Amino acid sequence: MLKVLIMVSGGGTNLQAIIDGVASGKITNTELVGVISNNQGAYALERAKVAGIPAKVVSPKDYENRDLFNEALLAAVQSFEPDLIVLAGFLVVIPEIMIDAYENRIINIHPSLIPSFCGTGYYGLKVHEAALARGVKVTGATVHYVDKGTDTGPIIMQKAVSVQENDTPKTLQQRVMEEAEWQLLPAAISMIANQQTMD
Ligand code: GAR
Repeated sequence: MLKVLIMVSGGGTNLQAIIDGVASGKITNTELVGVISNNQGAYALERAKVAGIPAKVVSPKDYENRDLFNEALLAAVQSFEPDLIVLAGFLVVIPEIMIDAYENRIINIHPSLIPSFCGTGYYGLKVHEAALARGVKVTGATVHYVDKGTDTGPIIMQKAVSVQENDTPKTLQQRVMEEAEWQLLPAAISMIANQQTMD
């Protein structure tokens, strides 16, 4: 069984898709061992609680400087002994010490077709605002491995989603989630879990 830790910052709809995927058998060979949030108010924490998954909050506000926060974040991650770390709307830059400790074992979901609308400053609704401002007709989502750059790691899966004439950033965000993100992330986790078993 692949031991998966999920890191979140907000609403946690991607976390929910993972929880539901394990419950329905769409994701196999996977145990959800924990959830970490940088934000005490994240609704994702409620979702973890309802699903009976242990959760920890590590907030930068509770640390004097970034190095101390990064060390605490790594310690929290290590406490769950994960095989795979899934960034499911985790809007904190992953510290280098964590990338070194978990090389090729961290994946992220990004709400665009990388390399479009990604990198520093592109997160959440901002990604969809930028896609609409540029006038693209197709956008989507990407699951990729996390390396030391921002959204630069190897791509695992992508799915395209059509932009509609009257889309707002919010309607586009919702469609990208429904049609791409909530399917891609569970599929990527299950693929990795089963690759590992077959090795
Ligand atoms: C998702 O759309 C995810 O792709 C995005 O944040 C949202 C989190 O929603 N992530 C990024 O923008 C990362 N750069 P959720 O909390 O409902 O899963």
